[in-house]
Amino acid sequence: MRMKKIIVAIDGPASSGKSTTAKQLAKKLDCIYVDSGAMYRAVALYLLQNDINFHDKTMLRKALVAINIEIISSKHKEENTIILNGENVTKKIREPEITNYSSTIAKDGLIRERMVELQRKLAETRSIVMDGRDIGTVVFPHADFKFFVIASIEERAKRRWLENQNKGLGSKTLDEIKQELAFRDKTDSTREIAPLKKAEDAIEIDTTNLSVQQQVEEIYGIIKNEIFL
Ligand code: DC
Repeated sequence: MRMKKIIVAIDGPASSGKSTTAKQLAKKLDCIYVDSGAMYRAVALYLLQNDINFHDKTMLRKALVAINIEIISSKHKEENTIILNGENVTKKIREPEITNYSSTIAKDGLIRERMVELQRKLAETRSIVMDGRDIGTVVFPHADFKFFVIASIEERAKRRWLENQNKGLGSKTLDEIKQELAFRDKTDSTREIAPLKKAEDAIEIDTTNLSVQQQVEEIYGIIKNEIFL
């Protein structure tokens, strides 16, 4: 029996296992799952498609007004569907060019301000599990539960490599993937605004040696103890 509306924030570096865990956790808790990274990816796609330099603040302000991002999350479907100005871009935003560029544009204060506003709106009326980089520190500093998910860079590169193989996107070597992850780790954790970091009151979960099921059970166990009395 659910006691009240809850917000669960799950942050961590790329390929740490946070999204897989967050999706399954949301299902178990009967909550909505929101992938905040997908929003930054949608902005990156829009800026690239429309040839807009985000350093040009006049252009960027106009773009942020023109960008309409819908995150369709349903309790019956793990994956979020991302609609950018009426177009389903769920697949497109996973392309490598967008992956790297999303980390670059996520440094921008105007972009972050707009995304945080949208993210908070999504949680106004519903229980939610949201994953990202600054969910526990900036978006929901008063979240009911905060987790910071980490894993060694070797393990994260291996996971991403396997994921690529399974999707038939196998052209990158393990070493190339490791370098890309290191680039994103650095960009995400050294930026001035809302860098990737563990909130003081977040629980750290190291998934290096955990299966997906173990990760989910560990986090679910902590939440269950407090809300299902
Ligand atoms: O979670 P992801 O790898 O899909 O996110 C893509 C990029 O978006 C990531 O490199 C940094 C940025 N991001 C962010 O700055 N803040 C968030 N809450 C989520 C993602």
